Amino acid sequence: MRKPVSRVLVINDEILVLREFVKGLNAAARSLENPLGLVFLGMTTANEALARIESDGDVQAVIVDDKLYSLNGGKSTKPELQTTALELVQRITRLRPELDVYILIAQEQEDEVVDTLFAESVDGYFYREERDYRGMYRIVNAEVQERARTPFYDQLKNYVWLAKDSWHTPGHSSGESLRGSPWINDFYEFMGEHVFDVDLSVSVPVLDSLLEPRGVIAEAQGMAAKAFGSRRTFFATNGTSTANKVIFQTLLAPGEKLLLDRNCHKSVHHGVVLSGAHPVYLNSSVNRKYGLYGPVPKRAILEAIEQHDDAEALILTSCTYDGLRYDLPPIVEAAHAKGIKVIVDEAWYGFARFHPAFRPTALEAGADYATQSTHKVMSAFSQASMIHVNDPTFNEHIFRENFNMHTSTSPQYAMIASLDVARKQMMMEGYKLLARTLALASELREQINSTGAFHVLELDALLPDEVREDGIRLDPTKVTVDISSCGYTVEDLHRELFTRFNIQVEKSTFNTVTLLLTIGTTRSKVSRLYDALMRIAREGRAAGRLYQASQVPEFTRLHCLPRDAYYCGGEAIPLLDEKDSLNETLIDRVCADQIVPYPPGIPVLVPGQVITRPILDFLVGFLRSQRRLELHGIVYDGYLPCLRVLKTAEERAVKRLN
Ligand SMILES: Cc1ncc(COP(=O)(O)O)c(C=O)c1O
Repeated sequence: MRKPVSRVLVINDEILVLREFVKGLNAAARSLENPLGLVFLGMTTANEALARIESDGDVQAVIVDDKLYSLNGGKSTKPELQTTALELVQRITRLRPELDVYILIAQEQEDEVVDTLFAESVDGYFYREERDYRGMYRIVNAEVQERARTPFYDQLKNYVWLAKDSWHTPGHSSGESLRGSPWINDFYEFMGEHVFDVDLSVSVPVLDSLLEPRGVIAEAQGMAAKAFGSRRTFFATNGTSTANKVIFQTLLAPGEKLLLDRNCHKSVHHGVVLSGAHPVYLNSSVNRKYGLYGPVPKRAILEAIEQHDDAEALILTSCTYDGLRYDLPPIVEAAHAKGIKVIVDEAWYGFARFHPAFRPTALEAGADYATQSTHKVMSAFSQASMIHVNDPTFNEHIFRENFNMHTSTSPQYAMIASLDVARKQMMMEGYKLLARTLALASELREQINSTGAFHVLELDALLPDEVREDGIRLDPTKVTVDISSCGYTVEDLHRELFTRFNIQVEKSTFNTVTLLLTIGTTRSKVSRLYDALMRIAREGRAAGRLYQASQVPEFTRLHCLPRDAYYCGGEAIPLLDEKDSLNETLIDRVCADQIVPYPPGIPVLVPGQVITRPILDFLVGFLRSQRRLELHGIVYDGYLPCLRVLKTAEERAVKRLN
């Protein structure tokens, strides 16, 4: 197993003192237990230290002298103050908030220094004169070990090694029911013994309960809160899909207003039905050239906040699937000024806290809630997500009731452990891994452009016109490639990459594919992709015509709350009439379901929405398209595609919205 290296910087401007400190601390590290590989390095200037912190992902802690002087490049003999501990701590935490920071002080200055640094994230103080290197080492080492702890995973592992006889669920009893079976033991062999060993249940009290955490799960969640910069963090084992619904049901009573991007993930629209919220849809910007739906224009958000100052909450997706992220601080500020809570769906952006290139995170920008699919972009198992809460008026009781309503009483323990481990990884090496991912993304961009047939879309090309001035930024780990000159349709390119080169891409539009780089992306994977694209480019196929899907029609209006419409029995009316033409009797009827074409995944209709001819035109066109597209929400009467709509009597009976 590879052993970690943990570098600790000691910053002091007096060379002799510094040498003595570094020597003493390294001697202590050698003579005492050192499982995390602590090594102490001396730096005489703040700038040198900051450069090292920026370039060296193995730096885990910093010991800063409370005042750093310099001799002004040798020009003067009078020492000048380089920086104060306060300034340096602030600069370090802006760069890497996960690092442990200690201050070296003179005993007589203790009160003054501690008072100044009170609000900063300082992990401890050492008296300069004491020279207690072994004591200092023990404290620094203990603190790094503390961050590297995984309370839930450790306990789970211990429990498995204790090998208790199981008289409880799950039925496979640590895999016993599979191991001896001539029919399914191959599944046991294939999956591996520990998959079954760790599949335990709430019957094991030492593993705590996700539904009422007080032990190791509570501890693991507390450590995640510290790592991700929230007041509270909750582990969700049914993805961000559930996380969004839990927050809606916590914040919104039936009829209360929610401002939402119409391009939000479908779980957000499901959450509207479940909570009974009154949705106010904000139209996303559209990049027509590439069929990409982008952020909602800032002006539209700010106007909606003004116009609907009675709204309870606003939810936005940042970053989007394509990596576009909002300039959140002014939006959050405007929402808070009206008492509106801000929820940010960071399903694709959970890692952002751990590298300054991606910050500010939603929470750093002031959001009240952030939901993150840890599994999408970090080392957690599928469905493992986190809900981070910074809402100053958080109602934990209501939240807990809703969380438990959506959470299985038999959650997957491997998933919880993977959240604990993913948090540890981001704390200990997130910065380093993200720096590598950024470098690979930049290399990949250059390589793709060098093929001549494929072209990476940078921010300027991705941005729809209506959001150009909105301060939107691009997450460079999402790489969207224009494929229109390569001679393949997007479907053929997908097939070619998959069957000939073993490559599966993340998503596509009619003339783009999006590649997702994560902390798991390797240089060889990048090379294989480049090689595949280069080979395709060298074939020199003539660019063909690409068929653009029609744009999703404008939102119309709501007849009633989505929840009221959804729970009507309704009736299924065919989209086409006997002559196979658009069924005009559907015009002006009220839809009972959410109808979502994939791609792009934006609902064309939501429950309660009034159907119009352009919407029907779009749906019929979509169904007749030759491409293999999905249309979720359609009811089939035999082979006949239908929409579930409210019966006329139901339309009259439901409470109308003005
Ligand atoms: C923006 C957004 N939010 C939420 C989700 C749901 O996340 P999960 O798969 O963790 O349930 C997705 C999934 O693709 C998404 O794209």
